Amino acid sequence: MNAVPKEMNQDIVLAADNLARHYSVKKSMFEQGTVKALNGVSFELKRGRTLAVVGESGCGKSTLARQLTMIEAPTSGRLLIDGEDVAGAGKEKIAQLRQRVQMVFQNPFASLNPRKTVEQTLGEPLAINTKLNASERAKRIAHMMRTVGLRPEHATRYPHMFSGGQRQRVAIARAMILDPQIVVADEPVSALDVSIQAQILNLFMDLQAEFGTSYVFISHNLSVVEHIADDVMVMYFGGVAELGDKQTIFAKPRHPYTRALMSATPALFEEDRRIKIKLQGEMPSPLSPPSGCTFHQRCPYAIDRCRTEEPKLREVDGRQVSCHRAEEVGDGDA
Ligand SMILES: Nc1ncnc2c1ncn2[C@@H]1O[C@H](COP(=O)(O)OP(=O)(O)OP(=O)(O)O)[C@@H](O)[C@H]1O
Ligand SMILES: [Mg+2]
Repeated sequence: MNAVPKEMNQDIVLAADNLARHYSVKKSMFEQGTVKALNGVSFELKRGRTLAVVGESGCGKSTLARQLTMIEAPTSGRLLIDGEDVAGAGKEKIAQLRQRVQMVFQNPFASLNPRKTVEQTLGEPLAINTKLNASERAKRIAHMMRTVGLRPEHATRYPHMFSGGQRQRVAIARAMILDPQIVVADEPVSALDVSIQAQILNLFMDLQAEFGTSYVFISHNLSVVEHIADDVMVMYFGGVAELGDKQTIFAKPRHPYTRALMSATPALFEEDRRIKIKLQGEMPSPLSPPSGCTFHQRCPYAIDRCRTEEPKLREVDGRQVSCHRAEEVGDGDA
């Protein structure tokens, strides 16, 4: 196994290095095609912090989540969890690493087993992975239920007996019960009523403050991202458009796509109407990716170079950005 010296990486709990996941699909009766759902994504997740991943439907967010949680193996690239290379790990090690990275899904109705009570849902991982006896497990379950804002006396209830928000609390409790280092949450509040969303976001933040858990938090909603993120990664068409700390990116986005996303979220940018860019058109078909920059067909800044030369992710103004014109974006408008 390829362990990175721990002392060098103490504040990085997860690192993705050029992670890619391609799917082979049928284009037609006779033709196979390749969908590059994730096409070379690199980032670092800091310990105890939240990296928010944002981007339109189909940009590869859930595909990324499946690689990070080791539900799928990447086509290429490296994933390091606490300095340990997942690709080099044996079965036993992978099982251990999987315990350390838990997932919360968008829809708790689909992700919870309808035939299991909360007690069973939370008890099983404890029975399998710890040496706790039955009464210790019951105590741990009651404590976890209280921690996520559920009443322990409801431990014998089934998922359908809870409201949507409470069900998501059960799913969060299940993710947290083994005290994971990392939680990957894929649109965990998108299916909830707006009034409940803030409560669940606050629960995530409280749990992070208490347990020091690191989050990869996927959302298409920039106001959610602004609320919860420390760092932000904007994805487009399987790649990274812009990556950096939240303040830097929100103060002055340097990728035209980030700016377009932000101007589509009115509440956040009332003070700067100037930057309004409408997102034109749709994402290109994943089966026929455009040449050059994958965003050029929709980009008001696009020049000839953008149509032919793929921009590399590079450092501009304190963040990573993949745009040939990043220096100009944000300083005067196209
Ligand atoms: N198993 C698969 N086989 C073939 N193509 C896939 C597979 N999974 C995802 N894709 C394709 O990969 C791309 C990225 O999909 P993904 O689900 O990761 O997007 P997403 O950002 O999570 O979208 P959403 O916001 O709608 O959840 C899409 O074009 C999708 O159709
Ligand atoms: Mg998704």
